[in-house]
Amino acid sequence: MAGKDITREDALSRLDHKHACHILLYADSRAKLFGKIPIKHIVLMQMRFDGLLGFPGGLVKPSEESLEAGLCRELQEELGVAVPVTIDHYVSSHLAQSPPHLILHFYCKKITEAELLEIERAAVSNAVDHGLEVMGLTRVPLYTLRNGGGLPWFLSHSFISNSRAQLLEALRRLDLVSPQTLEEAVQKAEEMRC
Ligand code: GTP
Ligand code: MN
Ligand code: MN
Ligand code: MN
Ligand code: MN
Ligand code: MN
Repeated sequence: MAGKDITREDALSRLDHKHACHILLYADSRAKLFGKIPIKHIVLMQMRFDGLLGFPGGLVKPSEESLEAGLCRELQEELGVAVPVTIDHYVSSHLAQSPPHLILHFYCKKITEAELLEIERAAVSNAVDHGLEVMGLTRVPLYTLRNGGGLPWFLSHSFISNSRAQLLEALRRLDLVSPQTLEEAVQKAEEMRC
């Protein structure tokens, strides 16, 4: 997905643009898949109403609310919990290629496994957008099985805007997946698509 990264300052000076904020929430976990494969980390994404994968969050109004307050409001709607977000969780701003005049702000926040489980419950039981704008939360498989299952297949799905790039960059930066596993998964996903 093209478009370009811009600074937060540059982004906020563009009063004629729309702004959207999305967040990657993650937690450490000691759980093991099949009782033997450590999953290590849990990363949350969602299946959107349009059939694309993306992160929780949405459009904010910088003239009426801070980016972080707007994101928190969207999280209340989509997850059923007003997860507190501060500028400490801010990662990047991206000028979307399409639609024009849309700036995409990205955040990452580490939470506890218990908090994450609570969000998963609330997303079904309390979120007003459940079943409407949000078809469901999903965890991202961060491992690659011997048959190629896991992260490669996940990456071969379709993602909204530059959310796939946001995911890959965060997995790398937060060291949630080793550089080698990540590189191989991206390559395998490419082969699976064609
Ligand atoms: P409404 O309440 O219907 O307005 O939706 P929303 O406020 O929840 O907006 P949405 O989450 O759809 O985000 C607005 C726009 O941002 C979308 O139309 C996409 O172009 C883009 N977008 C959505 N999700 C993501 C994401 O996870 N990452 C990135 N980079 N862009 C996204
Ligand atoms: Mn929304
Ligand atoms: Mn949204
Ligand atoms: Mn909205
Ligand atoms: Mn909405
Ligand atoms: Mn790690």
